[in-house]
Amino acid sequence: MPRKTKAKNTTTVKNTTTVKSTTAVNATTGVFRNILKPKTYGFICAIDFGTSGTGFCYAVSNNGTIDDKRDIIPNPDWHVLPGNQERGKTNTSIILDKTTNACIKFGTEAKYAARDYAFNESDRFFELFKMQLYEHIPGTPFIVKDATSDGIDAMIVFRESLRFIKKVFFEHLRRKNVSCSEMDVFWVLTIPAIWDDAAKLLMRKAAVAAELEKEDGQLVLALEPEAASLWCLASGGISLKKKDIYMVVDCGGGTVDITIHEVERADERCPRVKEVAPASGGAWGSTSIDRCVFKLFEDIFGRNRYNQMMKDSLGHIQLQDDVERAKCSFNGEINPVIQLPDSLLNSTKNDSDTPNQAVSNYNRINQARLQLKGSNLLIPAAIFSEIFSSAIRSILNHVNDLLVKYVNVKYVVMVGNFTNCIPLQKQMETLLDTFKIKLIIPDQPGDAIMKGAVIYGLDSSSVTSRRARKTYGVSVFESFNDMKHPIERLVIRDGKRSCAGVFDPFVKKNQIIPSGHIVERIYQKGDNQQTEMVIRILVSDEDEFPQFSDHYSVKVIGIHSINIPMKGTGRITTGMLFGNTELRCKSVNELGEEVETTLVLT
Ligand SMILES: Nc1ncnc2c1ncn2[C@@H]1O[C@H](COP(=O)(O)OP(=O)(O)OP(=O)(O)O)[C@@H](O)[C@H]1O
Ligand SMILES: [Mg+2]
Repeated sequence: MPRKTKAKNTTTVKNTTTVKSTTAVNATTGVFRNILKPKTYGFICAIDFGTSGTGFCYAVSNNGTIDDKRDIIPNPDWHVLPGNQERGKTNTSIILDKTTNACIKFGTEAKYAARDYAFNESDRFFELFKMQLYEHIPGTPFIVKDATSDGIDAMIVFRESLRFIKKVFFEHLRRKNVSCSEMDVFWVLTIPAIWDDAAKLLMRKAAVAAELEKEDGQLVLALEPEAASLWCLASGGISLKKKDIYMVVDCGGGTVDITIHEVERADERCPRVKEVAPASGGAWGSTSIDRCVFKLFEDIFGRNRYNQMMKDSLGHIQLQDDVERAKCSFNGEINPVIQLPDSLLNSTKNDSDTPNQAVSNYNRINQARLQLKGSNLLIPAAIFSEIFSSAIRSILNHVNDLLVKYVNVKYVVMVGNFTNCIPLQKQMETLLDTFKIKLIIPDQPGDAIMKGAVIYGLDSSSVTSRRARKTYGVSVFESFNDMKHPIERLVIRDGKRSCAGVFDPFVKKNQIIPSGHIVERIYQKGDNQQTEMVIRILVSDEDEFPQFSDHYSVKVIGIHSINIPMKGTGRITTGMLFGNTELRCKSVNELGEEVETTLVLT
């Protein structure tokens, strides 16, 4: 999305850029010199927008620093449903007005309201919608579904949720009699590291639409496991030393996000880490256990009764709560008992068996020992353990593969509320024993992400370098080289021979990119009549970057055009700023006119 343009729009847009020279510049010179002076805000507020739970915490900054890590204040008013160990988080559930799409209720309150039918049935209830961004098919619009499977533009649901959180934050400050203007808050929004660019960008746009970012630079996206990693250092709860390499496994409701960091500075007040391996993970969060338990109900009672229960919102939500309670209190040994709603037990016209017969049939076929007494289903611990294991197995396999590859990892730190799961802790410990690696679980592992996000918000150069996930560059015309370029790409203009559509990489995949890294190139117009240059920002996921911009792996992720004044040499400078979670691309002409595009880095 181009941010600012003073360049005149002409109809004679030509994609005719020619590389003139290449320069990597430092942060104080070049096209980004103005935007690199960040404003200091009085408050830093970090939002952990989770699949299952959402929380925020904040700090009052004293000229860009906070006095002590204890000065990071979690929102004390939020809590999740009973049976759950999450603190400072509320359910990521929202009710929207069907006609205006405005938020009616958010959080645990929305969940209760949905359960108690206290809301107007024509309103729409959404939950677990963050996962729908991860599961979305690239190139299709982002749609999320409400409880009745009706779709809506995902942007609306995220915007309304964030707007609500912002309101709660300011109400919280007002109650404490703390005065704070909207322009004095720097917002940090956490996102899973394993999301694609499009999903991250949607989150940013939603934050802008919710007016978190009212001026340029008022919002930063933080990668969830990175934020947690910074908290591990800043909290001092884990004694990490310079050069220690550690893995952070953020076990959430939807995803498990993993990152490997090396300590550059083990200073609690000013921690510094660098990325050793790009973030990775998968959809192996705790809600995958819920899905398996629900699949078990379908297997036992049949599709007809199961569908009947899914249409009964009250019964469905009550069953979800009961599964949540059974899951969170499961220690691997005690047989959980789950109360089933009538809609799952009442026979439909297509069922010839009673619920008790259905359970007996399931037991006979699967050699299981489930018991149904009234509406209570006892699931043997062995069956429940097996359900847990299928989710846990994916996590362990991935951690195992990473430890085989990155042999210098000294500690594995588990964060996120799924970390509270005893079977997960035990199985992780057993795996790490084989590598002689220590498992560390900080106090309140679910808070680590939002608290670390405040640390990141105070100083985004806390993560000093990352590995480029992809190759980023622009499409250019290059002087034609008979040895290198195929003849069908030859273009002759003003007597000059050029090769069209060359991929000019600014950073290459897996390259180490320091925080705030800038690459600048000077491009020359291709023919004398040219009044505008079009910059197409490209990305490729190939290990070896492709030579040309029409390679199948190359995607255009941004585009901007810049005016070329007729008086002058016909040169423009294009710069890319990397290193944080975002990529900024800016072009400047000889009159100082500039155009900028901001994209989200993966
Ligand atoms: N003891 C437990 N056993 C199993 N699961 C648990 C336990 N305690 C909490 N959970 C699960 O952890 C999840 C919440 O964790 P967390 O708050 O870290 O996730 P999130 O931030 O909402 O999700 P994500 O980070 O994937 O977007 C919920 O699905 C909850 O059921
Ligand atoms: Mg999370």
